[in-house]
Amino acid sequence: MQVDMDHPLCRELLVRLERELEVLPDKPDETPLNTLNCLCALVAGRPLALSQAGAAELVELDQAGQQRLRQLVERRLANVPLAHLTGRQDFMGLVLLASEAALVPRRETELLGWAALGKIESASAEEPLVVDLCTGSGNLALAMAVHAPQAKVWGSDLSPQAVELARQNARFVGRPDVTFVAGDLAEPFDHPDFLGRVDVLICNPPYISSAKVDNMHAEISEHEPRLAFDGGPFGVKVLLRLLKDAPRLLKAGGWLLFEVGLGQGGPMHKRLAGLPAFAEVESVQDANGDIRALAARRSAIVAAAGRV
Ligand SMILES: C[S@@+](CC[C@H](N)C(=O)[O-])C[C@H]1O[C@@H](n2cnc3c(N)ncnc32)[C@H](O)[C@@H]1O
Repeated sequence: MQVDMDHPLCRELLVRLERELEVLPDKPDETPLNTLNCLCALVAGRPLALSQAGAAELVELDQAGQQRLRQLVERRLANVPLAHLTGRQDFMGLVLLASEAALVPRRETELLGWAALGKIESASAEEPLVVDLCTGSGNLALAMAVHAPQAKVWGSDLSPQAVELARQNARFVGRPDVTFVAGDLAEPFDHPDFLGRVDVLICNPPYISSAKVDNMHAEISEHEPRLAFDGGPFGVKVLLRLLKDAPRLLKAGGWLLFEVGLGQGGPMHKRLAGLPAFAEVESVQDANGDIRALAARRSAIVAAAGRV
């Protein structure tokens, strides 16, 4: 859906967005024009994600609609995330519901998602068991379920609000069989159905140091849950717990995949390579060559002996 650029209000608002909209580096898909397209579609009663906002369909706005559009642009310029205004966010080809209940899925996390999907597709199990810890809105879990329909997918998060959003998303994308539970990291899966049985364990944990979280852009600090970012004094509090907890869930030959912050990839790779629980470590790099995710394969002999 597109705004009518012959309309003086649309031209005026586009100029304002071009001058004042600050697009965050981790939300690279947003532009002044597609923001305006999304907000215009929203006023017309069609909440769309950015990927849906480009179709050539002009919207005519009545007086009330014009006022509403103006208000929405003001709110966006006051740092309310576009995904919170539209209630929609793209992730790995899916359109998901978005709200203040959980982190807005980031484009950079797709690197982890596609890498995890590759491991699911090469798993020998007919119905690979996949667990997504720190699931937030359920974006990774649901992308796995949609792109690898043979997988049995579970997700969990410490935040009950995030779990509720993930459940809504499961219905929204037509995979209500994906189960989301609340709990602390691996704790919800300390059960014989999961211990030593998981084929692919995914996690995008909070990995920013507490001091940096205090200084994040207002679009993040005022609108997204701190729990989604704060990884403790050095940023690695949850990451280190993950390395300790993952081996007891993974089957021999199963894969752990997780996202890391800029600069954390090298040291985390080294740490993983030194753990007997893991036999093989791979890194996933972004277009700049920075490591943004790591994959580690559960070692067969150690898993059989029950050691981590
Ligand atoms: C970086 S966000 C990732 C959200 C989502 N998986 C994504 O990729 O967009 C981190 C998530 O971890 C959750 N979290 C933080 N500490 C946790 C813990 N100890 N156990 C489980 N989840 C936790 C937060 O609530 C948040 O949803």
